[in-house]
Amino acid sequence: MPTMQSGAMETEILSPDHDPIHVIDLIRKKRDGQALDAPELKFLVDGAASGAIPLEQLAAWLMAAWLRGLSVDETRALTLAMRDSGERFSPLRLGKKAVDKHSSGGVGDKTSILVAPLAAACGCVVPMISGRALGHTGGTLDKLEAIPGYRTELSLSEFEAVLARCGASIIGQTPELAPADRVLYALRDRTGTVENPGLICASILSKKLAAGLDGLVLDVKTGSGAFLRTYEDSAYLAALMVSTAEAAGTRAVALLTDMDQPLGCAAGNWIELVESVELLRGARPAERPETNFDLRELALILAGWMVHLGGQALTPEAGYTRAEQALMDGSALRIFFEMIEAQGGDASVFDERARFHKPGATQVVEAWRSGYIAEMDTTAVGWAVQRLGAGREKADEPVDPHAGIRFHARRGCCVEAGRPLATLYATTAAKLAEPVALLRRAIHFSEAPPHAGALVSRIFARQTAEEYLRKRMGAGQ
Ligand code: URA
Repeated sequence: MPTMQSGAMETEILSPDHDPIHVIDLIRKKRDGQALDAPELKFLVDGAASGAIPLEQLAAWLMAAWLRGLSVDETRALTLAMRDSGERFSPLRLGKKAVDKHSSGGVGDKTSILVAPLAAACGCVVPMISGRALGHTGGTLDKLEAIPGYRTELSLSEFEAVLARCGASIIGQTPELAPADRVLYALRDRTGTVENPGLICASILSKKLAAGLDGLVLDVKTGSGAFLRTYEDSAYLAALMVSTAEAAGTRAVALLTDMDQPLGCAAGNWIELVESVELLRGARPAERPETNFDLRELALILAGWMVHLGGQALTPEAGYTRAEQALMDGSALRIFFEMIEAQGGDASVFDERARFHKPGATQVVEAWRSGYIAEMDTTAVGWAVQRLGAGREKADEPVDPHAGIRFHARRGCCVEAGRPLATLYATTAAKLAEPVALLRRAIHFSEAPPHAGALVSRIFARQTAEEYLRKRMGAGQ
């Protein structure tokens, strides 16, 4: 164990095989564009988790790291130090391979709710630790908490019991796993240092690796609703996460997927759950079945990779076929309902879904001209969803489970003026005006059909990720 001498600016560590470390030197080193080594990063991370390093020094280091960037080696060392800052969950006792999926955040992205029971129904165990709405994107925990009684805060032993019974459990971050990320993430959120590939990679993977996964599928969004705004930034994050997870002994794959429009036909907590359950029942939207084709397809592709990495299918394509069977035969839906009951929730609300949905105010937005829907600024659509009441203005605020947007048409659809484009559900009538204006500004029409983008544009596995990173480093980026 390192010994720590306290004192804000003078914090110092003495270790037999390393020079004494001073926080101020680490801040200056990063500020001047130099790389930190593994003991230095571990010192910072341990100091963040224990509270020994003052927040202003951590914030200064984070800003230096955001501006100067982290090398691949620094990212690996930071990830491992953050993983090891708390306890590690071991799914070994469950006797099955543990797999998970993580998305870099999107609008209407409810694939976690689908892939967890799909992969569990195919013989994997899915210990899924999810997050809340962040910025313009929705959060799996907020969606699940729309189910009366559903508990997202379980102890690690309760988590294990649900996994043993159902094969899947979706919970929030526990205090035991990767505690350094709690401190650093909250600080990043308040200091404008979220959007940095190395910091995002270490934050996401520290939690996932602490959960003891055998395989991890990463869904990295690209397009107008993604956190990282250029395609190359998303590709770099995807390759960095795959290479970092693989170096830590977890098999990983990353898919670059389209977020140039919301995924599926609903964005909002309760209405996304209903869309998910309908899909798991094998039903499609009666009005326009094509409106959630992308959601079904992406969920099956991601689940197919999970099933493959979990050793239950020789190829991801065979995994897709197995996942589709689990969707069609109702076994995934059964697991989802069992998981809800095991976590204290009342799954019978889905039998009375129309009666359960009680938004404070509703407004239909109609097409203001005829033509093709050519573009959707998906970040703006996401803000519209959050401002209807589905997200938070301040940390720890409650969210409205009933708020959200149901889309009646998608990018590429040809619509006539006056036809409904979307139905908005708000907490109160006063909360409708801004989201309606945001939505109207976010949607653009054209005379000709727009170019159809690919749902999955690129896949990184270990080798392709390493090659990509080598090329990028060779190009000096
Ligand atoms: N989600 C996380 O958990 N961490 C990040 O840094 C970004 C998204």
